[in-house]
Amino acid sequence: MKKILVTCLLAVLPLLASANSGEHLDKVKIDLSNQKSLQNGARIFVNYCLSCHAASYMRYNRMGKDIGLSTKELKKDYMYAGDKVGETMTVAMTAAEGTKYFGTAVPDLSDIERARGADWLYTYLRTFYKDSSRPWGVNNATFKDVGMPHVLWKLQGLKKALFKIHKDAEGNDIKVITGYETVIPGTMSEEEYDNTVRDLVNFMVYMGEPAKMVRYSLGVKVLIFLAIFFVFAYALKKEFWKDIH
Ligand code: HEC
Repeated sequence: MKKILVTCLLAVLPLLASANSGEHLDKVKIDLSNQKSLQNGARIFVNYCLSCHAASYMRYNRMGKDIGLSTKELKKDYMYAGDKVGETMTVAMTAAEGTKYFGTAVPDLSDIERARGADWLYTYLRTFYKDSSRPWGVNNATFKDVGMPHVLWKLQGLKKALFKIHKDAEGNDIKVITGYETVIPGTMSEEEYDNTVRDLVNFMVYMGEPAKMVRYSLGVKVLIFLAIFFVFAYALKKEFWKDIH
């Protein structure tokens, strides 16, 4: 009994630790069975992210198959001229050029979701704000002094952060963001933008582990098989035992 208790405790410990990271993140609802959402996320990704970030573990044709796109649709809306469907999502910019333009290497986004988590990505892509002291004129509340421009600003618009000043134990000023104010409106409402970012994050979750899709559909098939098998097994059991009772 004691052993079981210790095992249970050990099993929930990592959950307790991760729940207590202190940072506020908005929750996002991921649904890998929603193909429309994955297709929309993929479209945003290839149009707005792939110019700087690669996703070098992801092949176009694998993606098409997993999220329900034909080769024709892939070529028309998801690929730049010259890419073949069997190729991975690479980017023309080299690491050295990235460092030159952005002051830091631009990370590959194939498995960024596994490093950061879906909630972090969802919050990060929605918390850019105007800051003229930064090279791109924006800062980010989730990733302070980030080297990335707000590439989705036309959709979201540009916000100004409202601050409150706190003093820490040594008497230094600490700025805390208390809210936002729109400076330039975007083409989307707040709800539309949140849904677009959710689709994009949904796609990045898929990209982090494409095999999940296979596991999901396999899992359903296994359950259906077990249900049918149960009927036969039960009928067989009745048949075997009927003369004994
Ligand atoms: C103009 C180039 C550019 C584009 C376009 C761009 N990014 Fe970035 N991104 C960067 C750079 C540079 C960094 C590194 C920032 C740093 O480390 O300070 C970065 C960092 C990130 C990070 C943080 C990675 C980490 O270290 O955890 C994420 C997540 C990210 N980008 C997602 C996206 C998504 C999603 C898109 C498309 C909507 C996108 N980026 C489009 C340049 C770009």
